[in-house]
Amino acid sequence: MITTAKAMSRLGTESAFEVLARANALATQGKDIINLGIGQPDFQTPEHIVEAAVKALRDGHHGYTPANGIVGLREAVAADIASYRNVEIDPGNVMIVPGGKVTMFFAMLMFGEPGAEIIYPNPGFPIYESAIKFTGAKAVPMQLHEANGFSFDAEEVLSLITYNTRLLIVNSPANPTGGLVPKAEMDKLVAGLEAHPQVCIMSDEIYARMLYDGQKHTSLLQYESIRDRLILLDGWSKTYAMTGWRLGYGVWPSSLIEQATRLSINSHSCVNASAQWAGIAALTGPQDAVDDMIKAFDQRRHVIVDLLNSIKGFSCAEPGGAFYAFPNITGTGINAREMQDKLLNDAGVATIAGTSFGAYGEGYLRFSYANSRENIERAIGRIKACL
Ligand SMILES: Cc1ncc(COP(=O)(O)O)c(C=O)c1O
Repeated sequence: MITTAKAMSRLGTESAFEVLARANALATQGKDIINLGIGQPDFQTPEHIVEAAVKALRDGHHGYTPANGIVGLREAVAADIASYRNVEIDPGNVMIVPGGKVTMFFAMLMFGEPGAEIIYPNPGFPIYESAIKFTGAKAVPMQLHEANGFSFDAEEVLSLITYNTRLLIVNSPANPTGGLVPKAEMDKLVAGLEAHPQVCIMSDEIYARMLYDGQKHTSLLQYESIRDRLILLDGWSKTYAMTGWRLGYGVWPSSLIEQATRLSINSHSCVNASAQWAGIAALTGPQDAVDDMIKAFDQRRHVIVDLLNSIKGFSCAEPGGAFYAFPNITGTGINAREMQDKLLNDAGVATIAGTSFGAYGEGYLRFSYANSRENIERAIGRIKACL
């Protein structure tokens, strides 16, 4: 009989992948499924980025790269941060990793262990809670409130900090809610954190470029007083429609970058070399494809929010960022998981139950509008007919 480590029983999953598998299985049986469950842009990676990867392969970039990434890419990340976040960083603090998730997992491994506490957004990206529990640390939920546009309340978050708190996770713009944390709330949080110098912060800003209504991104990297204990998570997956390339980055404080690099050397050695060259082309090349994609998401955002609000028992706030809508479905009297299953099986529409993002997600359903306007309209028509 084989025995696996106890920690394995604490490891959760990301339901979006399970729903995708079920939706694909139904599609294989001949069912017409509209997928509003998956969290990836329905656009192709821009051509010049693909070409840069092909060229890198043709030019012979076939070997290992430095574990923290090629210099040109780390410099391009630093330049991008200077231009979009208005912060000067040293490329030596950048670590290139295979996807945004890796920075997250490394941060949990670095700080999590029995006795430690990690505060995470709930409802939030499911891997936060899963990875925290895997390490044996206590996962402390920070509730996001619909009434505040799914922001946290800074005072409430600060009240969760104890002597054992080692890491605090912030995600804005957010998955699954599309919510933004207002700058004033970030200011309050950072001011309060000054009294807790033992707490490290991981800011997941993977949707930083996906903002609407002229909103400006507030990056926690912009706050000087916490810079020496801030880990920034970002990457190419969403902004450049590169989810399958597996390319992301972390900006680590100088005191942690060497440990992060050691985790890379112990796990994946380095990121696929041609993907790194593609990453340079993405950051330094034309940005019109990104702008066009965000314009398309913005148009669909209005369409989906209006349509969701026309469903009896649904009420949907306008999301400020990312490409998700998170309607409150309590008016239907059906719980989130039942609704997810009903819509998939009876209406052929894949969505994700709010509870897949934590206990505070009960009463909500996540819709991704990374799908065509026609499909969004068809999906909502089917949902209305089915409910
Ligand atoms: C909030 C958030 N962080 C990180 C990630 C991970 O991104 P990647 O695919 O680059 O690992 C996702 C992906 O859905 C996400 O929604």
